[in-house]
Amino acid sequence: MTESLADIVAHRRTLIICGSGGVGKTTTAAVLAMHAARLGRSAVVVTIDPARRLAQALGLEELGNIPRLIDPELWDPAGTRLPGGQLSAVMLDAKSTFDNLVMKYASGPDQAERILSNTFYRNISSALSGTQEYMAMEKLYELHEEGENDFVVVDTPPSRNALDFLEAPDRLTRFLEGRVFRILSAPARRGMKVVNKAARLFLRTIARVLGSEVLEDTMDFFAAFEGMYEGFHDRAARVRELLDDEGTAFCVIASPRRDALAEAEFFARQLGTMDHPVSAAIVNRMHPSFVPSLAEATRLRAETLGSRQDPASIRLADLYANLAAFQDVAAREDAELGGLRELIAPVPLAKVAFLSDDVHDFATLQHLEENLFPESPSPVRQGA
Ligand SMILES: Nc1ncnc2c1ncn2[C@@H]1O[C@H](COP(=O)(O)OP(=O)(O)O)[C@@H](O)[C@H]1O
Ligand SMILES: [Mg+2]
Repeated sequence: MTESLADIVAHRRTLIICGSGGVGKTTTAAVLAMHAARLGRSAVVVTIDPARRLAQALGLEELGNIPRLIDPELWDPAGTRLPGGQLSAVMLDAKSTFDNLVMKYASGPDQAERILSNTFYRNISSALSGTQEYMAMEKLYELHEEGENDFVVVDTPPSRNALDFLEAPDRLTRFLEGRVFRILSAPARRGMKVVNKAARLFLRTIARVLGSEVLEDTMDFFAAFEGMYEGFHDRAARVRELLDDEGTAFCVIASPRRDALAEAEFFARQLGTMDHPVSAAIVNRMHPSFVPSLAEATRLRAETLGSRQDPASIRLADLYANLAAFQDVAAREDAELGGLRELIAPVPLAKVAFLSDDVHDFATLQHLEENLFPESPSPVRQGA
């Protein structure tokens, strides 16, 4: 039987949310973690660049790199969660995640200090392309190792290729094992003499471009890294294992616009070829279909009313015309989903309504939750 989104949230251990920028990844990740918590799980959402007001709601105003428990009063005011349910959030801070990693794999405080205080390190650790992708996976792994949560939802960075994160750990290891790295770390290790001619030329060019001070810093950094490759290498392998684990599921998010859907289809295909078939897909910000009838019938009604002379009928005619326009949009959006639906079948496609406001508090998050899990009893406070 095909796994529903509700099954995924109830039983998987890791859920990775991917999709192009702005479709609602961060928002949806929070909603899914919140629902898992309601089901009695200990859930944590790893968010990346949450909108400021959402970050506030999640208690993430201060950049912290450790998960913060969210007061259940906020997300479960009615107290209907199952026993054990708890919700935490953490905002990914790539820089300090990387620092922690260096401290973990350094042979001792001296080596760690030498790296952390290095100018080159300080620059690359916040700017190295792929760092954020790498760190998202790193954080995921770290949370698993800690074992304090049984459900981890990971939001992914808004990179140009949304699936970069999957390859980030390997990319970093390749970089550490690669030629440039070896050249740069060799001189400091064995003295300039043994460096071959090509490498010397390479270094001289770099020195000319960057200045010799920067080069020194750089080589110093690579030298300081010695002995840590193993650690990074193992780590990348274990992250890969975690991604391959059957407890891990991938969810693609799209909006009903043609370009976002095309991108979601692309991600779904890519994930398939990487042996991570999508387990769920969500189309966010759908215009709701308020009435089951066709737009044509509504438009006829508007015309009939509009032909009458009294002001009330004319006002009503306008409303009907508006509703017909809405129905058109909803029908068009629904038709656009066909490609993605077919591609991922039998995996179901869930829809979330376009709300009139941004989603930045728990009441609105709950609104989305009800859209995604209509079968669950309403989490909203009685009478609210
Ligand atoms: N269903 C929705 N209705 C209305 N606004 C939404 C909805 N989902 C998300 N938003 C808003 O859209 C913006 C982008 O959402 P976000 O989750 O940050 O996207 P992403 O993480 O994919 O970039 C946010 O301001 C959010 O509040
Ligand atoms: Mg985001």
